[in-house]
Amino acid sequence: MVIAIDGPAGAGKSTVAKAVAQSLGFKHLDTGGMYRIVALAAVRSGLGPVEAAGSIRIDAGPPLLMDGEDPGDAIRTPEVTAMASKVAGDVAVRELLVRRQQEILAEGDWVAEGRDICQVVAPDAEVRVWLTADETERAKRRANQTGESVEEVLVAQRLRDTADEGHGRSTLEAPEGALVVDTTGLSPDEVVAEIRALANRLRD
Ligand code: DC
Repeated sequence: MVIAIDGPAGAGKSTVAKAVAQSLGFKHLDTGGMYRIVALAAVRSGLGPVEAAGSIRIDAGPPLLMDGEDPGDAIRTPEVTAMASKVAGDVAVRELLVRRQQEILAEGDWVAEGRDICQVVAPDAEVRVWLTADETERAKRRANQTGESVEEVLVAQRLRDTADEGHGRSTLEAPEGALVVDTTGLSPDEVVAEIRALANRLRD
């Protein structure tokens, strides 16, 4: 079974996807992490996005591996985050990674998170969820993690949400037919319970 989770930055995708996977005994696929690994390879090598993507091997894990090693927080730096948004706008890189993601998801039980999972990578997933939250709440969550001001995060978040649209990505709007879960004011546990209940209903 595949549970597909889309949504904008700060909606809680990663926390929720990991927790749903753990509670159901599924594996977790962080597709944003795959774009980040390509970005890290580009930053380190100075190669262009497609060449960088072709120069490394990504294993699904979890954890995601870059040439057999866990890149850890090296893929979460501001420089790599900015480069990830750039490489994710490259059509050839997207084709490569979407194909790899589809191969990975073809076997076993997965919770896959990203921006294009519901529409492009796994349109036939048994469970398709679009997680969202009020933009100020999303910015507050990020500001709490990074120590930046909410205003600063809001500006960067708007830019990133716009940059991360297109190519079948549902950053700003829900994909058709997906269950919309607004996480504003909800605890991660409440969101996880809602998705689990849906998955369990479909499995019965
Ligand atoms: O979710 P994230 O911040 O880790 O994603 C990193 C970048 O990759 C971000 O700019 C959005 C982009 N991305 C994408 O275009 N498609 C995906 N399936 C996942 C992420």
